[in-house]
Amino acid sequence: MNHDELKKAVGWKALHYIKPSTIIGIGTGSTVSHFIDALYTIKDKIEGTVSSSLCSTQKLKSLGIPVFNLNQVDEVAVYVDGADEINPQMQMIKGGGAALTREKIVAAVAKKFICIVDSSKEVGVLGSSVPLPVEVIPMARVYVARRLIQLGGLPEYRLNVITDNGNIILDVYNLCIVDPIFLEKTINEIPGVVTVGLFASRSADVVLIGTKNGVKTIVKNN
Ligand code: A5P
Repeated sequence: MNHDELKKAVGWKALHYIKPSTIIGIGTGSTVSHFIDALYTIKDKIEGTVSSSLCSTQKLKSLGIPVFNLNQVDEVAVYVDGADEINPQMQMIKGGGAALTREKIVAAVAKKFICIVDSSKEVGVLGSSVPLPVEVIPMARVYVARRLIQLGGLPEYRLNVITDNGNIILDVYNLCIVDPIFLEKTINEIPGVVTVGLFASRSADVVLIGTKNGVKTIVKNN
């Protein structure tokens, strides 16, 4: 099975976590795109969705799946999203698709976070295979970059990308993230940072991992 087939398998498996008449949080990316295809098959059974990006909103609407403004809903039952990396503590790096801020907001509201990934996203230590994205207010780009260098990172301006919120992305290389909760807090406190793509304080509750031997399910111990 190739990566896309593994992503499709977890996207469809995530349907098992959808209860009738609830509002579903929708992430962003190619794995979530498969989940949206699956959700379409039960669209008349759910109340609707809230979306983390204009891209996902566009696909949901094109399939006739209702999309609500987050401020108009009382509760988001589950949030389904992919990740760029996930560690054994179910903490993630996200933001490869530049949607990290809205993803973090919807994840914070949701009662349960279901992370859907193929096995290539599993790492022992976050930062091993991908840079850490940081969404930044444009006027603070150079200041924030300097502060990230002081933290040991090598920030790179993601060219030709403006987020749905009108901001820019710095991708930070060279970080070995041994204390994700501390680093998330530290970067979020830099003036000009909108949010960092470390999902450590709010980690996933369930992880569905697409492997060549089938979908592996990991549930957080509370
Ligand atoms: C979007 O900003 C990201 O957080 C995605 O969730 C992440 O990049 C996973 O994308 P794929 O499902 O396309 O691998």
